[in-house]
Amino acid sequence: MNILLTGATGFIGKELCKHLADEGHQLVILTRNPQRASNTLGPSHEYIQWLEKDSTPWMEVLEDVDGIIHLMGENVGSGLWTAAKREKILNSRVKSGQLLVEALQKTNHKPEFLIQASGVNYYGSSADGAIDETADSGQGFLADVTRAWEDSTAPVEEMGVRRIIIRTGMVLEKGGALDKMALPFRFFMGGPIGGWQWVSWIHLIDEVRAIHFLTTDAHRGVYNLCAPNPVRQREFSRALGKSLKRPSWLPVPAWAVRLLMGQMAEETVLSNLQVKPNRLLQAGFEFKYTHIQNALQDIFS
Ligand SMILES: NC(=O)c1ccc[n+]([C@@H]2O[C@H](COP(=O)([O-])OP(=O)(O)OC[C@H]3O[C@@H](n4cnc5c(N)ncnc54)[C@H](OP(=O)(O)O)[C@@H]3O)[C@@H](O)[C@H]2O)c1
Repeated sequence: MNILLTGATGFIGKELCKHLADEGHQLVILTRNPQRASNTLGPSHEYIQWLEKDSTPWMEVLEDVDGIIHLMGENVGSGLWTAAKREKILNSRVKSGQLLVEALQKTNHKPEFLIQASGVNYYGSSADGAIDETADSGQGFLADVTRAWEDSTAPVEEMGVRRIIIRTGMVLEKGGALDKMALPFRFFMGGPIGGWQWVSWIHLIDEVRAIHFLTTDAHRGVYNLCAPNPVRQREFSRALGKSLKRPSWLPVPAWAVRLLMGQMAEETVLSNLQVKPNRLLQAGFEFKYTHIQNALQDIFS
């Protein structure tokens, strides 16, 4: 298939490009910086300049694509959530989704599917008990962002495009959030952050396998992309220490993280969501990494 990707140069996108190319797909990368993207992802894909306010330079390419995977968005975990950062987090997602829709409205050919990135923060920052795709949206900045983000591409369904929303948990691989978590362990200073809150996670390999899986057949609607066994932060920290061959003994109290990061802490490192990937499992997707210890062992071995 001919697949168009946004956000392809990111943490998930880079691995996804490798996986899709290995599966024999042709990739068109819509990026803010084609030269840098080509240096990162290699010369075998097509690179097109993304302009945030104008679809004219890239619209034509939509006439030839079978599917779109839309991952683009200002990084949520880097830097504090100042007013300017919040605006970037929201606008880079919602406005890009709206621009894609506007461009698709003008093209004759419509793609077969559109995969819309989202996050488990849709459910808020704390929920009682396990939740699946039927749970209501929660409260907080990220919940508001994810709702608007998901809604931004909803009109493509009226164009007959199969839309799939991937509500992703914390994606695990070297780099990304895991590097920051592993750092104190490397200096024998590791321990749980908070402690009892649930962590919904997924190995990067399963994230990209699941995205590819959802491009096929008749899958549509919302899917939680998280491993079937979320863990409490204490267990996560123990497994991380074990994989790094370091102790997990120095807890970071929740109040200290709140003091440092404010509201951002509540909705990221301290968020308490036990999310289950029920729809993926019902659809027959088989996770490679179902338990945190195996996932972290694989990553740090
Ligand atoms: N990683 C996770 O654990 C996780 C969990 C849940 C949801 N997600 C979501 O999944 C998507 C992909 O995640 P990721 O970790 O791969 O993201 P990432 O590493 O931060 O990369 C996102 C990509 O989006 C583009 N981008 C960055 N800032 C932008 C801005 N201000 N305006 C427009 N484009 C911008 C960049 O591509 P170009 O420079 O090439 O344009 C970048 O490579 C994100 O939207 C993220 O919120 C990720």
